[in-house]
Amino acid sequence: MKTRIALPTDEAIAEAARLLENGELVAFPTETVYGLGANALDETAVAKIFKAKGRPSDNPLIVHVASAEAAQPLCYINERAKALMAAFWPGPLTLLLPKKPVIPAATNAGLPSVAIRLPRHPVARAMLAACRVPIAAPSANVSGRPSPTTAQHVLEDLEGRVSLILDGGPCEVGLESTVLDLTAETPTIVRPGCVTLEMLQAVLPDVRVAPSVMRPLASGEKAVSPGMMYRHYAPQGQLTLVKGEPERVRAACLRLYADAVGQGRKACVLTFEEHATGYEGCETYSLGKLAQPETLAHTLFAALRQMDAEKVEMIFCEAVDTQGIGLALMNRLNRAASFHVLEV
Ligand code: TXA
Ligand code: MG
Repeated sequence: MKTRIALPTDEAIAEAARLLENGELVAFPTETVYGLGANALDETAVAKIFKAKGRPSDNPLIVHVASAEAAQPLCYINERAKALMAAFWPGPLTLLLPKKPVIPAATNAGLPSVAIRLPRHPVARAMLAACRVPIAAPSANVSGRPSPTTAQHVLEDLEGRVSLILDGGPCEVGLESTVLDLTAETPTIVRPGCVTLEMLQAVLPDVRVAPSVMRPLASGEKAVSPGMMYRHYAPQGQLTLVKGEPERVRAACLRLYADAVGQGRKACVLTFEEHATGYEGCETYSLGKLAQPETLAHTLFAALRQMDAEKVEMIFCEAVDTQGIGLALMNRLNRAASFHVLEV
């Protein structure tokens, strides 16, 4: 199969909708990351997503809709869901709700719930409005790799495995949507994102974070969100997170970097604009401004991919605070590091 990248003109969006209705795959931009879409109601089309990504079939997909009304035939919408939809849709919040029979098992891994999201990216919205079906879409990466935040990242991973990539430029947020389980007695964040705990609690005060969001699963423990399993978002090199008081963190990163280079390994420190001057003589990559953590979210996955492109073997990254979007950042970093954290 030849993969085409197209700017999101009206014609390209119409073609994307046609391909999707015919059971083909299309990659498209959302405000979070690029998605790999297929008709959510067509098991054969959905099976192509799992094949293209090398994704285990027990990992359910998010179903994207063009409007809140379009979610009605797919799931049972309760009062809490209505309140959250009114506050955050369109936007980077995915809701787990009891599924209706129309959802095929291939889409939601046969679970009683289905994940529903209404993205706010104009290209995603135009494409969803143009197709007459809901679109199942995971992140458009090969399973296990960092999620794609540009059309080029999608091409790197999926060339020859997707018909069309709509190129909407770099994604604004850069981390995947917040996933909130509304089937639990207490609304529970199973994947943190840029709609933060604090923002959700302003609408539903009892929202909590699933404990497994910030730690590895215990042996035999069932994942609340199958996609949050152990190794994920992983660069090829080994990532170590360094946590503690800033001066000690800097000293530890300098020492780790010098040791790695001393052993002939290619190393890099992932840091922030505010800290860049502390690492003269080291290879560094700035994730953005600590004072504006959304800039770190925007850059993280591209940075991890860059580490692979440069064949960096040892990566050291300063831990960030888990307030606000920091929780989502540390959730992805912990998984990318396989929970390899050094406290100093
Ligand atoms: O921002 C996003 O959410 C992107 C864009 C493309 O919309 N999509 C995305 O999809 O990140 P994916 O498949 O890479 O991640 C979906 C996550 C996985 O961790 C999956 O296990 C979880 O949501 N999930 C989906 N349906 C679920 C369900 N019914 N129950 C529990 N977890 C579910
Ligand atoms: Mg993913």
